[in-house]
Amino acid sequence: MPSPLAGSSEELAGRQVGQAAPSPVLPDGPRHPRIVQAWLWLKKPTWFLDHCSRAYGEVFTMRLPLGMNLVHIADPELVKAVFTGNSDVLRAGEANAAILEPLLGPHSVLILDGPEHLRQRKLILPAFHGDRMRAWEAAIRDITRAETARWPQGQPFALRPSMQSITLDVIMRVVFGVDGGARRDELRSHIVTVIGIGRNPFMLLATRNRKLGPHAPWARFIRARDALNAALAGQIRERRRAADLEQRSDILSQLLLARDDEGRPMTDDEVRDELVTLLFAGHETTATSLAWAFDLLLHHPRVLGRLQAELDGGGSEYLDATIMETLRVRPVVALVDRHVREATRIGGHTIPAGMVVCPNIYLTQRRGDLYQDPAAFRPERFVGQTPPGFGWFPFGGGIRRCLGAAFATFEMRTVIPEVLHAVTLRPASRRPARIRRESVTFVPHDGARCIVTRVGRS
Ligand code: HEM
Repeated sequence: MPSPLAGSSEELAGRQVGQAAPSPVLPDGPRHPRIVQAWLWLKKPTWFLDHCSRAYGEVFTMRLPLGMNLVHIADPELVKAVFTGNSDVLRAGEANAAILEPLLGPHSVLILDGPEHLRQRKLILPAFHGDRMRAWEAAIRDITRAETARWPQGQPFALRPSMQSITLDVIMRVVFGVDGGARRDELRSHIVTVIGIGRNPFMLLATRNRKLGPHAPWARFIRARDALNAALAGQIRERRRAADLEQRSDILSQLLLARDDEGRPMTDDEVRDELVTLLFAGHETTATSLAWAFDLLLHHPRVLGRLQAELDGGGSEYLDATIMETLRVRPVVALVDRHVREATRIGGHTIPAGMVVCPNIYLTQRRGDLYQDPAAFRPERFVGQTPPGFGWFPFGGGIRRCLGAAFATFEMRTVIPEVLHAVTLRPASRRPARIRRESVTFVPHDGARCIVTRVGRS
């Protein structure tokens, strides 16, 4: 079968010799004015995606202001074609750089493409090796226990901020190797400031590089980012000199010890940019996935009961299935994007250069032909079953697949049982939370509110 993303470089460039060139035509999509589509995409993202998918099928174009066209793809065959396609033509770094570079820095693995991207990936990946992760388990448990001990009893509270606190402390400990004391508090406060300002990226971008005074969001962001970078630079210099560097299990120490194919270490600037990347790629995503897991579990008592019974018996199969099902039905990142550098054929469409192709996680993972009753939360579907090929990709795919996927899953496998052991929870509302967009992520609209009904298991 020909690849849905077939073509020589000339064909991909839309210049087939001796034949009529395939004229680049964007797939069909909603006809509303661009500004209206942008509003729907920002404010009613799941409604808009469901609507587009019903009206236009598994490939459609969303047209946004400033000539930005997003070609959404929700067909596993085409998703596979994008993930395994030519990464020089379908560039993820370029697609991410416009928004993320000021925060993550020029060396970030998320914004690089080509050989530089692969070099950073190869330097980072070994630090997340499975054996190393087991060394972090006790720390993750301790951090979770300390957090649950602070929860109020009998009063509704939002779980998501609590999960953010857990995952931030885990990153401080596991990624930065900072354990406690004034250094930890200083670093944490810089991070919290940057995250706070970054919560509204659209306001940030609107004031970017404009001279609007020292209190404008962009100016405050630059100050906060520079302060964080300075604190991290100090941490890196200090760690390079640490006598126990080789024995340490944290990611920062591993990055300092890493060598590329030519035997070169990472520079301090590279290490700093990757630390910031791991922090921002890994903290909110994992926290929100945990919040979704609890929101779903608490609203599905039968699932929760089965999970607790399994955990009491020392098993973990249903726990794994619960995590997979949470990431399927509530993906925190709804889509990934690839910037199209040259006209490219995808399925029956020739996508012009300059467009953004988006394998759509949310829509693909809700296909009725892949998952029976796709909107329902049913971990059973993954018990003893592997997910359909390219029908489950909450961590993206190909050479850009999430570097922290195993770590995020490990953290969820550790935090969920620890919380269920520490407290008995009930949901604060009758229905599961609605999906709301926050920046580029899908989050529970109410932060996943719940109530502690007793300390310990009932
Ligand atoms: C449940 C939690 C998480 C989710 C849902 C998630 C999801 C994703 C997605 C969708 C991508 C883009 C992949 C693509 O373009 O194909 C990505 C990239 C990435 N993630 Fe995660 N992520 C999570 C946790 C983490 C953690 C804990 C870390 C590290 C501490 C991390 C580090 C990264 C990095 C470095 C990349 C860039 C990879 C590259 O461009 O080569 N993520 N993640």
